[in-house]
Amino acid sequence: MITLRAITIDDATDVHRLCAHAEVARFLGGLPTDGLDGWKKRILELPHDRASLIGAFEDGTLIGVAMLDGQLRARRKHIARMWVAVDPARWGRGVAKQMMGALVDAADRWWAFVRLELDVHADHARAVALYRSLGFEVEAEKRCDMLRDGRLVDGLHMARIRPGFTPPEELVGPPVIARRGPKLSPTRIRVRPHRPDDAAEMAAMQGTDSVMEGTFATPFQSEREWRARLTGMDASVRGLVAIVDGKLAGSAALFAHASPRLSHACGFGISVHPDFQGCGVGDALTAATCELADRWIGAKRIQLEVYADNERAQALYRKHGFELEGTQRYAAFRRGTYCDARMMSRIRE
Ligand SMILES: CC(C)(COP(=O)(O)OP(=O)(O)OC[C@H]1O[C@@H](n2cnc3c(N)ncnc32)[C@H](O)[C@@H]1OP(=O)(O)O)[C@@H](O)C(=O)NCCC(=O)NCCS
Repeated sequence: MITLRAITIDDATDVHRLCAHAEVARFLGGLPTDGLDGWKKRILELPHDRASLIGAFEDGTLIGVAMLDGQLRARRKHIARMWVAVDPARWGRGVAKQMMGALVDAADRWWAFVRLELDVHADHARAVALYRSLGFEVEAEKRCDMLRDGRLVDGLHMARIRPGFTPPEELVGPPVIARRGPKLSPTRIRVRPHRPDDAAEMAAMQGTDSVMEGTFATPFQSEREWRARLTGMDASVRGLVAIVDGKLAGSAALFAHASPRLSHACGFGISVHPDFQGCGVGDALTAATCELADRWIGAKRIQLEVYADNERAQALYRKHGFELEGTQRYAAFRRGTYCDARMMSRIRE
């Protein structure tokens, strides 16, 4: 008989053994050499107000682990990511379905999540079938998603929307004018790495309606918070700002992944101050970021999310070689409701 219960620190050694098994690690995204201490830390620091890590036990032995991991960002709190792993000796016996089914049910009834999402290797037919049987649908096909057995394999992004969920009506905000000003001469746009002294202008720019419309930013951003963020940034974030006539006109950043299996990929985000939109600043920042990724970091894949109705940003990305990979449903909270986002990527050949 299989029982399900929350994982505790006493299970750390067994969770580590299961997840570091080569056949499990190759699909989970970890390494077979990942240490026990990492698992102890994850279990001890599990944010119980938004996440759940459960195990399946047979005669007291751990045979599977599954997780529901609620997103931290304010405008994505309705989303939880999921993953599951079963001891290879017990594959094909319905253990994963039992664990995932229990978490999906808990998400629907108790957690108030609207969107559950996960990533899976595109050729992992068994897992894809399992997720489909629980109501997940393929939303995007991610090229060169993850390193597996020494080569990059494609991934699928799958999601399940809570059955019967109806989004609230959109609260109509002030129109965001898609200005298209005269282009600035490229020599007037100076691009340099961001620094703590940019805090006040970053806070002001990120809190504008126009930038909030296009990003995950929230209103009333504080200079102090931005100073702390810009001061404490490690090498996983590489940020650039564009300066025009001494003013901060825009900012872009590349975000590296912690996992070595994803070290070929970077996330990308960009904002241009409304006073400078449509003048070539986004173009200059995107070109500089792509150059940084191609020439200095050697990133194979740059990926981003852009709201489905943000035509101008999509045009900018297409111009720089990004291609559409799919559409996430209800990807973020905006104007009082949930909006879809396109996933795009640029692959360096
Ligand atoms: C989207 C954004 C980054 C574009 O930057 P920008 O400085 O306004 O854009 P640029 O003037 O450099 O234009 C570059 C390209 O973007 C596209 N573009 C810009 N404005 C556009 C508009 N009004 N309509 C359609 N396409 C537009 C075009 O492809 C343009 O190239 P082209 O001039 O050769 O046709 C910027 O408007 C912005 O920060 N908006 C708010 C935040 C946001 O949406 N961020 C993106 C998050 S995914």
